[in-house]
Amino acid sequence: MPTIFILNGPNLNLLGVREPATYGYDTLADVEQRCLARAAALDLTIDFRQTNHEGQLVDWIHEAREAADGIILNAGALTHTSVAILDALNAADLPVIEVHLSNIFRRESFRHVSYVSLAARGVICGLGPQGYELALEALASVIEAEPGEAAR
Ligand code: DQA
Repeated sequence: MPTIFILNGPNLNLLGVREPATYGYDTLADVEQRCLARAAALDLTIDFRQTNHEGQLVDWIHEAREAADGIILNAGALTHTSVAILDALNAADLPVIEVHLSNIFRRESFRHVSYVSLAARGVICGLGPQGYELALEALASVIEAEPGEAAR
């Protein structure tokens, strides 16, 4: 079964208690459960992780290069600042779906810029945890349409 790395960046460990008006009441563990259920239905294996550290995300993206068939990435605030993550994604050369729980375009202007987007096949934002499930569906389609991606 194709493997998808679902990587979450800074502060997403506080999901459910952090700014619930913006991010909702679901915890990251709730999001992981939804992803596990959706992945099972799509015949995908997922590896769901969170870190508050930029270098850890870079290392995981390098790991995905060898071990995964696609990446779903919510890089949190690093989305708007990290050239290192962009470079790692370009090096990984895998299909990437960028996810944000909130609609970053309805928020402060500094959130309208995304380095991750430069390496992403698609972007889903503003749909809360459902965005992760939609990202899994998108990657399932990409991998089916482009089997070369999964063979890597
Ligand atoms: C976020 C949006 C980012 O701007 C913010 O820094 C986050 C979460 C989201 O999921 O909506 O930490 O990536």
